Amino acid sequence: MTDHDLFDIMYTCRSMRRLKPDPVPDELIYRIIEAGTQAPSGGGVQAWRFVVVTDPERKQHIADLYQRGWQIALKQYAAASLTPENDKNVRAASYLAEHLAEAPVLLVPCLRERRLHAARKTGPNAHNFIRIISGSIYPAVQNILLACRALGLGATLTSVTTQYEAEMKKILDLPETITTYALIPIGYPMGRFGPVTRRAVEEVSWLNTYGTPFPRPAGYSGRKPPA
Ligand SMILES: Cc1cc2nc3c(=O)[nH]c(=O)nc-3n(C[C@H](O)[C@H](O)[C@H](O)COP(=O)(O)O)c2cc1C
Repeated sequence: MTDHDLFDIMYTCRSMRRLKPDPVPDELIYRIIEAGTQAPSGGGVQAWRFVVVTDPERKQHIADLYQRGWQIALKQYAAASLTPENDKNVRAASYLAEHLAEAPVLLVPCLRERRLHAARKTGPNAHNFIRIISGSIYPAVQNILLACRALGLGATLTSVTTQYEAEMKKILDLPETITTYALIPIGYPMGRFGPVTRRAVEEVSWLNTYGTPFPRPAGYSGRKPPA
């Protein structure tokens, strides 16, 4: 592997919300989760837990919850004049909400928290510790998204269901100590992978002090993702 492979993967790791219902082999899902578990975690505690949902009935329950949350989100978008008709992202996200149960796999990244919190609840660093642990799922999630892309599988990081934690716990039989942090529908994509659209580095970066430009170096040619 060359570093070009990794950069190409990162630069084309778009949210892929139109998925074929074709099953994804367990071996690939195992590999994707394994990639997730190569991520760093605060204190090296590896408190991540993953639930692979393939059961149609459970997927449907999750999709119903998702749809409930998405309808609320849609109203918020509409208040900002963004609708499925005039905004590509809202349209794609609405499609996902309507078709979530058809994704062959819904992967639910979780963290095992209660005991960890309790252990440090009284210390001076209790709050910081909780923050570090909670943030520790996202490096794994990003590894998972990149692994999906590398394997030609479509995936999207979604958060809608995290507002329905009690219902998710019920659907997935989660103990109290396990909290969901995301939901990643995974499947073979209907469309093609393409480059992500992002703001330029110089728009979002400063040198030493906020407000001092960190300009694009002279002669920097950048990278073009594969066509
Ligand atoms: C924290 C977080 C939460 C997100 N939640 C959702 C979600 O609930 N539903 C969804 O369709 N996309 C969700 N997304 C995906 C973003 O909408 C998407 O990454 C963004 O619009 C950029 O599009 P791209 O990934 O195709 O480049 C989420 C992304 C992040 C990082």
